[in-house]
Amino acid sequence: MPLHGVTRLGYVHARVTNLDAAKAHYGQTLGLYPMHETEDRLYFKGWDEWDHHSVVLEAGGVGLVKLGYKVNDPADIDVIERNAQNFGVTIERMSSGDNLETGDGIRMITPSEHVIEIYHSMTRVGTEVGFHNPEVFPRHLVGVGAPRIEHALITADDVNLMDAFFHDVLGFYATERVVESLDDGAMMIGTWMAAGNNVHDIAVIKGPQGKLHHFAFHLADWSEIKRAGQLFAMDDVPIDVGPTQHGITRGETIYFFDPSGNRNEVFAGGYVAYPDRGTVNWTPEALGKGIFYIQRELNERFTTVLT
Ligand SMILES: [Fe+2]
Repeated sequence: MPLHGVTRLGYVHARVTNLDAAKAHYGQTLGLYPMHETEDRLYFKGWDEWDHHSVVLEAGGVGLVKLGYKVNDPADIDVIERNAQNFGVTIERMSSGDNLETGDGIRMITPSEHVIEIYHSMTRVGTEVGFHNPEVFPRHLVGVGAPRIEHALITADDVNLMDAFFHDVLGFYATERVVESLDDGAMMIGTWMAAGNNVHDIAVIKGPQGKLHHFAFHLADWSEIKRAGQLFAMDDVPIDVGPTQHGITRGETIYFFDPSGNRNEVFAGGYVAYPDRGTVNWTPEALGKGIFYIQRELNERFTTVLT
C-alpha cells in the first residue's frame, strides 16, 4: 500500500541581501552542506537529508520566494491539483527542471499570497553516513551541523481560510491552534498543522499577507539547542528569543536572524502527532505561555519583525 499525500516540507526558497554573508551563516554557522551555487543562488542541504537540497537562497531582498512540499506518490500531484481547483486556488503546472534537480509538479498561490510548489521527485544524493550500517552522524560537521529543515511559519490575514486550505487542498490536520474563543467557528490567531506525524510542517499566524515569520531547522535535543546558542555567540548571530520552550508543540527553541534579517529557528523536541489526537486549543489569555512557555510573554520584535 503506497503512502499518499504530502510527506514533508522539502525546500524553503528565500531571498537574501548578501550571498557571501548568507553563505557564511547557512554554510559555516548552521553547517548546511553547500550543494550548488550560481551567480545569484545558493543551494544547501542538511547532513541527514538525502534529496539534493532543502534551502535555496536567492540574491535580492528578503523574505520567502516559495515553499516546496514533497508528496509520497506522483498521483498525489493530480489529487492536490483537483483539490486546489475545487478550493478555488489558482494553480499552474511546473515542468521538470524549473527548479534545479527537481521534477515536475504544480505551483499555487495560497489565499495568503504565498507560493507553494508540490513535487514528487528531486535528485537523490544520499547522505554522508549512507544507508548501510551507518554511523549516527558524520564526524566532520561544521558549526551547528543542522541535520534537516523542519517547518516554516508564515503570516496571513485570514488564518481560518489558511487552515481550511492546508486541510482541504494538501490534507494537513491542525495539531494546535490559537483561537479567539472556544466557540465553534471562532476566529483563529494561529494554526499549527501536520502532514504526517511531525508536530507541524507549517504554521500560520495572523499578520500581513505573503510574509515569512521564520523557517526552522531540526536539532536532536535540548543540549543541541544550547550548543547552537554557544555557536551563535561565537559567530555573533543576532538572537531574537531563547533558548526556551514553546507551550504550543512543546518544542525547544532559539529564534535568531540570518545576516539579511530573515528569522531562523533551531527546533528540538515536540511530540509525535496523529490525526486522531484532537487539536489543542489555546486562548488569547495564554498566548504568551503558548509561544514561550517559560517566559510567558512575547517580545515586540517577535510579533512585528517579518520578512
Ligand atoms: Fe517554528
